[in-house]
Amino acid sequence: MAASGFSSQFLLSLILCSLVSASADFFQDVVPTWGGPHVQILNGGRLLTLTMDQKNGGAGFSSKVDFLFGRFDMQMKLIPGNSAGTVTTFYLTSGDEPNHDEIDFEFLGNTSGSPYTVHTNVFINGQGGREEEFKLWFDPSANFHSYSIVWGPQAIMFFVDNIPIRVYGNQQGTPYPHTRRMKVLASLWNGEGWATRGGKVKLDWAKAPFITYYRNYLATDAWQIQRLDPKGRILLKWAQKNYRTYYYCHDFERFSHYGGRPQECRRPRARKGKAIGKQH
Ligand SMILES: *[C@@H]1O[C@H](CO)[C@@H](O)[C@H](O)[C@H]1NC(C)=O
Repeated sequence: MAASGFSSQFLLSLILCSLVSASADFFQDVVPTWGGPHVQILNGGRLLTLTMDQKNGGAGFSSKVDFLFGRFDMQMKLIPGNSAGTVTTFYLTSGDEPNHDEIDFEFLGNTSGSPYTVHTNVFINGQGGREEEFKLWFDPSANFHSYSIVWGPQAIMFFVDNIPIRVYGNQQGTPYPHTRRMKVLASLWNGEGWATRGGKVKLDWAKAPFITYYRNYLATDAWQIQRLDPKGRILLKWAQKNYRTYYYCHDFERFSHYGGRPQECRRPRARKGKAIGKQH
C-alpha cells in the first residue's frame, strides 16, 4: 500500500542483474565485533558462520569501512528446525550513540515447521518504531537467499532475492537518514525475551549450537542506478499484499497511545490516503 503512494520521482527501473559478480572476501571486508571464536571465516574468505551456544552466547561482525549510501547485498542461510528465540541480523548502523541511524533486517526464529518472521525497521536520530514484518515465500534455512538494503538519498529499499518488499521514501518534511555514515553489521543473538510469538517461546538449548551462514557480501554504489520500474512496483505490492504481517503505519491502536501517527504515515497520499482511512 505504501508503495503506490510514492510518486514516480524515484520508483522507476529495477535492474536485476547489476550485481558485481566477483565474490566478496570476508577476511578483507569485515571484522568480528563480539563472540570471538563464534565468528568463523571459511573457504578462503567466501563463507562466514556465526554460532550461538548457551555457554558463550552469540556473535557478530562489522564491515571495516563505513558508507554514506550504497547497495548492500548478503546471502544468508538461517538456522533450521527449532530456531525459536534466535535472532539473526543484517543491518546498517551509524553506531551506538543515542541519536544514531539504523536500517535493519532481523530474522526472528520459530519452532519447527513455523515460519520465520522478517522484521525490518528504520531508526532516524535514535528514533525507531518503523517496523514492517513479513513472512517469506520459501524456507530460509534450506538454502542461501539474498537479502539487500539499498540506501540512497531518495529512498531506502529492502529486497529479498531481488524482490522489493519495502520502500521507505525521503519525502519532504519527514525524517530520513542522509547525514551519518553507516557500517554494515550482522549478528546472531538470544532474543528469546521478545522474538518468537512475543517472547512466549524460549530457546531450546538442546538444539545448540545454532549456526547462521553468510556469503557473497557486497557493498556497491548501485543505489544510483537502481529504481523500481512498473514490474518492481507490482512485485512490491505482491510482497506486501501476500507476505506482510505487520505495518506500523496501520497500527492505529499503538499510535492512539503514543501521540498520533508518525509524520511519514500522516503524509497525505493521493488516492491511497482514502484506503488507509477506511481501516479505521
Ligand atoms: C511463528 O509461527 C507462528 C505460527 O505460525 C506465527 O504466528 C509467528 O508470527 C511466527 N513468528 C514468530 C517470530 O513468532
